[in-house]
Amino acid sequence: MNVYIICNSKTGFTRRYADWIAEETGGTVMSYEKLGKTGIDAEDIVIFGSRLHAGRIEYLDKIKARLKSHRRFIVFATGGAPNAAAEVHEKIRNMNFTEQERVTIPYFYMQGGLNYERMGMLDRILMKTAAKVMSNKKTLGPEDAGFAKAIRSSYDIASREYIRPLVEYLKASI
Ligand SMILES: Cc1cc2nc3c(=O)[nH]c(=O)nc-3n(C[C@H](O)[C@H](O)[C@H](O)COP(=O)(O)O)c2cc1C
Repeated sequence: MNVYIICNSKTGFTRRYADWIAEETGGTVMSYEKLGKTGIDAEDIVIFGSRLHAGRIEYLDKIKARLKSHRRFIVFATGGAPNAAAEVHEKIRNMNFTEQERVTIPYFYMQGGLNYERMGMLDRILMKTAAKVMSNKKTLGPEDAGFAKAIRSSYDIASREYIRPLVEYLKASI
């Protein structure tokens, strides 16, 4: 039985978490883009990590379809939102998993940040447009004001400690 960490990372946050998880679990990191036809067995543990993109865990649906026969399938997402934004994460969970999946697929969120320098052009335009729209709004609630401030420039709030709940879950379930 092997542990595979399949990772979709555009600017490096998810990859950093995947590497930390691999160090702790002895797992192998594989890039989602280069996945191809791999030799992952139905008995192996698959951890899928991806970024949040407008509330969606990018490529989650494709991975779910591909790994439906895997009993041990764990998902983690990284994003710009802080771990503490519990209501936001509840909504994200509901958007990305069916009621049944919320019971059967363990899901973990790990705060990452934003990296404009490594972002693709389309993503940069989207984020800069969102920042502009927010700054033009006359009144912002406290949550929106925090978001508007956060997306103006790059920031990094990732930390190795945030892998702990996933690693502990994994160790307890092997
Ligand atoms: C267009 C766009 C949309 C995003 N949407 C969200 C979002 O809905 N929630 C969130 O917390 N972060 C969001 N982010 C931030 C990314 O999820 C965050 O930077 C993530 O850690 C990037 O992972 P990566 O470095 O592995 O690509 C968004 C970023 C971009 C560029």
